[in-house]
Amino acid sequence: MKKNQFFATVLVALLIAATFGIAMAADEFTNTGNDNKGKYLFRKNCRTCHIPGGTAPDLSPNSKTQAQWQRTFKSYEKLTCKDEWKKLSQGDLNDTYTYLYNHAYDSPQPATCE
Ligand code: HEC
Repeated sequence: MKKNQFFATVLVALLIAATFGIAMAADEFTNTGNDNKGKYLFRKNCRTCHIPGGTAPDLSPNSKTQAQWQRTFKSYEKLTCKDEWKKLSQGDLNDTYTYLYNHAYDSPQPATCE
């Protein structure tokens, strides 16, 4: 009986861990990050390729609407450069998202990335 209780406890613990894992994996980005840091991170980590004449299409915050940035970040795992994204922490990605979203094409303060 004792032994069964032990296994039941382990099972419950595993279920809780699994639920947490799923919640964490569903990357949720919000525009509550650090705008300035996001600008720096975007230049440092993305503009290396995404510049005019670079190896990837030129990208600036105003290249997309807020809804498009939302969709891009939600499914970034489908992008050619997903491995570049995965080098960044969730916090750094959220700061990058904040900068891009807050200065998107249809935002109150659209910005290019000069
Ligand atoms: C090593 C170079 C490299 C880096 C660094 C890089 N990308 Fe990319 N990215 C690419 C390439 C190559 C493509 C595919 C372009 C194509 O299909 O025409 C791409 C595609 C994309 C696309 C889809 C195309 C579009 O215009 O909508 C987005 C969005 C994007 N990258 C955003 C980012 C962001 C944000 C970062 C920084 C976190 C980043 N990339 C870092 C090379 C890079």
